Amino acid sequence: MSVFVLCSVLFIGLVNSASAQDAPDEAPKAEAPMNEAAPAPKAEMSAPYNGLVLTLNDQWSLKFSGQLNTYFVANMQEGKDAIFGVQNGLLPASLNVSPMFKASSAVTISGNFGLYLGIPASGVDNSKSNVALDFSAVDIRSLSFSIATPGGTFFLGRDFGQFGLDAILNDISLLGVGGNYSFANPQHTTLGGIGYGYIYADRLVQINYTTPTFGNTSVTVGIYDAINDFGATSIATGIIGWHAKAKTDQKFGENVGLYISATFLAQYRSVLSGMAIGWDAFLKFNVYGFSLIGYIYGGDGIGDVGLMVGGTKTNGSGKVVAASSLGYYGQLSYTIKMAMPLTIGVFYGASTIDQGTGGKSDVKASTRITGSVALAVLPYLILRAEFTNQSEQKTLPAAAPKANIVNVGATFAF
Ligand SMILES: *[C@@H]1O[C@H](CO)[C@@H](O)[C@H](O)[C@H]1NC(C)=O
Ligand SMILES: *[C@@H]1O[C@H](CO)[C@@H](O)[C@H](O)[C@H]1NC(C)=O
Ligand SMILES: *[C@@H]1O[C@H](CO)[C@@H](O)[C@H](O)[C@H]1NC(C)=O
Ligand SMILES: *[C@@H]1O[C@H](CO)[C@@H](O)[C@H](O)[C@H]1NC(C)=O
Ligand SMILES: *[C@@H]1O[C@H](CO)[C@@H](O)[C@H](O)[C@H]1NC(C)=O
Repeated sequence: MSVFVLCSVLFIGLVNSASAQDAPDEAPKAEAPMNEAAPAPKAEMSAPYNGLVLTLNDQWSLKFSGQLNTYFVANMQEGKDAIFGVQNGLLPASLNVSPMFKASSAVTISGNFGLYLGIPASGVDNSKSNVALDFSAVDIRSLSFSIATPGGTFFLGRDFGQFGLDAILNDISLLGVGGNYSFANPQHTTLGGIGYGYIYADRLVQINYTTPTFGNTSVTVGIYDAINDFGATSIATGIIGWHAKAKTDQKFGENVGLYISATFLAQYRSVLSGMAIGWDAFLKFNVYGFSLIGYIYGGDGIGDVGLMVGGTKTNGSGKVVAASSLGYYGQLSYTIKMAMPLTIGVFYGASTIDQGTGGKSDVKASTRITGSVALAVLPYLILRAEFTNQSEQKTLPAAAPKANIVNVGATFAF
């Protein structure tokens, strides 16, 4: 049961919500969700697609962006009957509405309302499975605005944290299905590769500041409101978390590009009477249609699935201390540029956490391998098939068993 609650809590919003407010120089955002097989409608070298923008006058515009997806999923667990389902993949459907006000040639204010919707009829609070005469739930995961000035950009509100963000935005299963957490009882998300190579970035209530870019390099620093352990009933008050990110995006001619980022996160956790810390590093190298990604993260007291979900253990003297996390993934994909661009790719990820003698001590690492084929039959209409082999997830009590998963479906992104 708690699995399903977790699924609805560890919800994924769409990439687009992150792109909604940002300057076009934000590499991974401008690319997502179009970075795979969906070409811009015109020439290949045209500007990145940035949503449907209605321009009202010189100052005001309104942007709509989002996607809808549906997958058929077959799930083969060792020693059990196969489970079949029709459901959302890693992403629920999403709709981002962004009013933008150009105050002057140098200052733009943009807001974002990010609505996320699951296709199963699962009640207003998403607590049930698909039931007769019920309806799908709406979750509002992003509410934010940003102020872009020549001196940098300020971002205020609720949206993704910096830690782990590039990892999930570039997972080849972002617009697919990935691993299994809740196929038997589909909710809004399968959680993709979360807990198998990266930790969910989560939506943090935050204020951050990003420096202007110097040679496509920038630094973001921010504070966020404390997040409590999953299921915690007490509220952490008066505690602020910190995060920072540095990134650089370099192009070497038309066909070669390198993107590197690193983040740091720290938050006091009362359960530890001390700080939880996390760090990660991400590298993406694009060369003539190939895209190679390497990602690694580590931390103490942050958990291995969602930020501050677990991440503690009891030591020899019965004291609750931080559990150390370490994980990584590698991904290689290739896009064949033709009338219907085809992207094939493979992802391998592993997450480990040192829980001492606690937890599933027989599961050394939560591993997942996914092969993916995506065909953009029309601009913005992507058909996708995936095969995934996953180990049991190490820390989630009943969820994410050892399984082979096959899924086929489509995404309409706009
Ligand atoms: C602040 O955080 C948000 C949410 O992750 C991100 O989209 C944005 O790029 C960050 N920085 C600025 C200045 O907006
Ligand atoms: C998928 O995960 C859920 C737990 O969230 C489990 O109930 C179900 O049996 C799994 N399906 C398969 C085929 O492994
Ligand atoms: C900076 O990024 C933009 C957009 O990706 C690109 O067009 C430009 O070539 C980059 N500049 C450098 C120096 O890499
Ligand atoms: C358990 O943690 C406490 C607090 O950090 C420490 O004082 C104690 O020595 C630890 N016990 C063992 C057996 O590691
Ligand atoms: C996944 O692959 C591993 C390694 O080949 C294998 O041991 C395991 O049985 C596979 N899982 C399933 C559910 O078949």
